[in-house]
Order: sequence, then C-alpha cells, then structure tokens
Amino acid sequence: MNIDEVNHQVKGWLKEARENIIHAFGNPLSVETKSSRVDLVTNMDKQTEKFLVNKIREFDPNAKILGEEGFGDDIANLDGTVWIVDPIDGTMNFVKQKDHFAIMIGIYENGIGKLGFIMDVMNDVLYSGGPDNGVFANENKLEKPENTSLKDGLLGCSSPMLMMDYNHLQTIVKHSSGARVYGSAGIEFIHILRGQEIGYISHLKPWDFAAGKILAEALGITVKTIDGSELDMLQSANVLIATENAQEDILKLLNSF
Ligand code: IPD
Ligand code: CA
Ligand code: CA
Ligand code: CA
Repeated sequence: MNIDEVNHQVKGWLKEARENIIHAFGNPLSVETKSSRVDLVTNMDKQTEKFLVNKIREFDPNAKILGEEGFGDDIANLDGTVWIVDPIDGTMNFVKQKDHFAIMIGIYENGIGKLGFIMDVMNDVLYSGGPDNGVFANENKLEKPENTSLKDGLLGCSSPMLMMDYNHLQTIVKHSSGARVYGSAGIEFIHILRGQEIGYISHLKPWDFAAGKILAEALGITVKTIDGSELDMLQSANVLIATENAQEDILKLLNSF
C-alpha cells in the first residue's frame, strides 16, 4: 500500500463526505430504529457509507470492506486489505445535537493497522495517520500524550456501562479524576489522542474501534479488551483504551474483585 497516495485519496473523500452531511442539515432527516429505540440509523448514515464504499471500490477493487450499515462485504477473515467504515459514529448525537459525531475509516493489511481516519465533522478536524507516518490533527503532528495514571485523569465511559456498573465501572471512575460521557467512540478517541482523557471504557463493535485503534497505538496508547487481551477485529468486545499507566491501574483494580 502506498501510504501517501491512500492518505491523499481518503482525505479528499472525507472532506466531500463532511460537506455532504453539513449541506443535508437543511433537509428533513429520515430516522429509523435498529435493535432498540436508542439504536438509530438515518438516511445520512446510509448515504455516507454508500459514498465511501463506492470510492473505496473504485480506488482499491481487490480490497474487502466492512461497513456498519451493510453496504460493504461479508467478511470471514482479515486476509489482504480490509477497510472498516463507520459512516457516522455517534448517530444519536447527530440526530439530537447536530454535533459531536465523526466519520471513521480504519485500513488493515493482513490484520495489521496501517492508516486510521477520524473526521470530527463539526470542528472540521481530521485525525489521521498510523504507525508508519505518525498522527496528525489536520496538518499538525500530535505528540505522544503523557503516560498519566488513573487517579490523575478523566475517564471516558459508555453511559449504559456506567449506569449498570458493568465491569465495576463505577469503582474505576471513583479512582479517576472523573467520568466523561461523550456518546461517540470517535470523539472519545480524539480526547485520548489529545491527552484530554486518560482512557475510555465501552462495549464496541469493530467499526467503533478500527480507526481509533490505529491512531491511538501509534501514540503509545493501549487498545485492548477490558481484561487486557488482544481485540478480535471482527468481534464486538468490552474495550479499554488507556495510557499504559492507567491500563495497569485499571487491571489491578479489576483483579482485586
Ligand atoms: C455508537 C457510539 C457510542 C457507543 C456505541 C456505538 P454509532 O456508535 O460510538 O458512543 O457507546 O456503542 O455503537 O452507532 O453511533 O455509530
Ligand atoms: Ca449505529
Ligand atoms: Ca460507531
Ligand atoms: Ca455509525
């Protein structure tokens, strides 16, 4: 894969996808529910995924595509080049706030993360990069965030997990400087990349973590299951994204139960 060429292409598509979403704010939104009344999909989720899938197929016809809304392929393994697409991450925020949502793409080669993209649509900032080229917020290179411990940082959480105290999340939060709940995995990843949160705990699907994993790991942040195992890129999991020190603190706490 030619990293520079792919980077250049994807940036152009994401700019266009962002503009399409913003222009669509003037039109009525069609909102449907999926698995529950709080699991939403809109015409713009579908339109954005179709747009990106078409661009990817044209650019890289041999690649496999995993997309949340089903316009990609059925994928049985990570052999070859796999593009993982979340057309709108934070659909509830998109519908209720018209803010705090992201477009995300992760590109894997034989299971190895190569390039990740998280477009913060309303702030017009694209987080991009990977292990070979570093991580950028638009054109600005990001430094590794400080390796802050749990007690000295804010922890991003999924609201159902926090409310239900899954994985002793309330105790973990009590040992931190406080909880933050942004309602979009992509926006949480961004806060971690920028050193504004020390971690994020949530039940996530592959398209929720595919892009962020590549960007976060390139900056020395760990992205694993909550018990410290490797993530399977084709399975959902309870995910812990954290600085190395915060991960160690959280694993110690969980082992004490
Ligand atoms: C959701 C958001 C949310 C997380 C959910 C995801 P979607 O993604 O990232 O923050 O808690 O698990 O499904 O459905 O809006 O793309
Ligand atoms: Ca969804
Ligand atoms: Ca998502
Ligand atoms: Ca989505």
